[in-house]
Amino acid sequence: MCSAESAYDRRRLRQWLAGEAHAPGVPRRDMLRLLAAAGLAGAAPLPLGAPAVAAGTGSAPGTANAADRANAANAPGIVKPLPDAWFTVRGTNAETRFASLAGTGYHTPNDRFFVRNHTATPVLAAADWSLTVWGDGLSHDRPVTFTLDDLKRFPTVTRSAFVECAGNGRSLFAAQQGQSVSGTAWTLGAIGAARWRGVRLADVLRRAGLGRRAVDVMPRGLDADYVTADGTNLGRVRRPLPLSKALDDVLLVHEMNGEPLPHDHGHPVRVLVPSWIGVASVKWVGDIQVSARPLYSPWNTGFYRLFGDSHPARGSAPLTRQTIKSAWELDWDAVLRAGTTHRLTGRSWSGTGGVVRVEVSTDGGGTWRPAQLHDAPRRDGWVRWSTHWRPPAPGPYTLLARATDTGGRTQPDTTVHNTQGYLFDAVVRHPVRAR
Ligand code: MTE
Repeated sequence: MCSAESAYDRRRLRQWLAGEAHAPGVPRRDMLRLLAAAGLAGAAPLPLGAPAVAAGTGSAPGTANAADRANAANAPGIVKPLPDAWFTVRGTNAETRFASLAGTGYHTPNDRFFVRNHTATPVLAAADWSLTVWGDGLSHDRPVTFTLDDLKRFPTVTRSAFVECAGNGRSLFAAQQGQSVSGTAWTLGAIGAARWRGVRLADVLRRAGLGRRAVDVMPRGLDADYVTADGTNLGRVRRPLPLSKALDDVLLVHEMNGEPLPHDHGHPVRVLVPSWIGVASVKWVGDIQVSARPLYSPWNTGFYRLFGDSHPARGSAPLTRQTIKSAWELDWDAVLRAGTTHRLTGRSWSGTGGVVRVEVSTDGGGTWRPAQLHDAPRRDGWVRWSTHWRPPAPGPYTLLARATDTGGRTQPDTTVHNTQGYLFDAVVRHPVRAR
C-alpha cells in the first residue's frame, strides 16, 4: 500500500473511531448494542447465530459438532449438491474437504468451492438484476443504475484470486490452543481459488459520477436480512470498503472459472476484493452506497475485528487482509501404509504476498525440510506443494507445514487469541496414522 493510501486509511480510521461515521439502516439502539456486545463495553462477544467453538470439547477439527450434524442432511439454503466426499456442512455453510482438492488443479472447481451464507442463497435471474450506485459521495444526487449488459460494456478483467473466510481455521483455536472462541467451527476448507471475470469497480464508480468527497463505498447483498440468534435484525449483508481499496483492485465479477457465477457464489454479480477477508466480497450485490463519510455496518464493527485480552480495549481496526496458512490435502486422521513411500500434497497461501517457501515436518516438528513448490508465488493466490514420506513404522504421526510469503512473513507456532476466532495463522498439527 502506498503511503498516501495509508495516510488516508489512518485519517479514515480516526474519523471512524471518533464516531464521525454513519450507519444507514442500522437503528442507533442496535448499533450501540452491537458495539457494546463486540467488546467496547467489555461485554461478552456477540453471538453469531452459529455454533460456538468451546475449548476442551474433545471434538477434533473435521468432526461435526451436534449443531452441524443436525443440519448435515440438508444445508438449508444452499442450491448446489453437497456430497459428503467434498463438503462438511456447518449450519448454513458448507466447508470444502481439503483432501478432495488433491489433483483438482490450481483453481477450485465450482462444484467443490466452499459456501458461506449468512442466510440462504437467493436464486436471482440475470435478466431482472440491476445494480444501483447512490449516495452523497457522488458528484450529483441521483442514483445510477446498471444492468448486467451495461456492466459487460466496461473493459473486461480476468484474474485469479482466492476467497477465504476470516474465520477459516477457527476450530484450531480450541483443538490446538485450548481456547474458546465463537463462530462457525471451520477447519481449513473455508477457502477456494477461482478465475474470476468481470469489470473494475473503479470504472463503474467513475461512470456513476464518483465525487471528490467520497471516502467509503458499501456494497450490499440481495439476500435476506440477517437475524442473529438473539433476534436482532442486522439487515442485509453489507460491509464498507475504503475508497483506496475500492479504486485499487476490486472487481464486480459475473464469471467464475469460465461459467456464469453460480447461484451460491453470488449470481449474477458479486464483489471480489482480492487478498481481503471473504466477507468483503459481497455476493448478489444489488446496490453500492458511495459516502462522503466513513460508514459503519455490523460487519465492520461487532464482527470482523479483533477483541480480547491481547487487543486494544475497544477492539482492533476493522480487518482487511487475510493471513497466512497451509493445509495438507489429507483427511484428519488419514491412514497411510507404513514402510511405503507416499507423495503427500498440500497448499499454502497468504493475503500479504505470494508464498515463496514451504517447509514440512513429518515428525511433529522435530525436523523440517523444504517441500517442492509447484506454482510460482502469486499475490492473492496459493501454491501447491508436495513432499515424499515413508512412515517408518505403524503408529500415530503429526504432519506440519509452514509457509513464508514474499513479505517475509512466516506462520507462527501459535495465533494470538481473539474472541471471535478470526485469522488463525499458526502452523497446524495434522494427525495421521500409519499401519
Ligand atoms: N455476501 C452476501 N450477500 N451474503 C453473505 O452471506 N458471505 C460473505 C461473503 N459475501 C456473504 C456474502 C462471507 S463471510 C464469505 S467468507 C464469502 O462471501 C464466501 O463466499 P462463497 O460463499 O462464494 O465461498
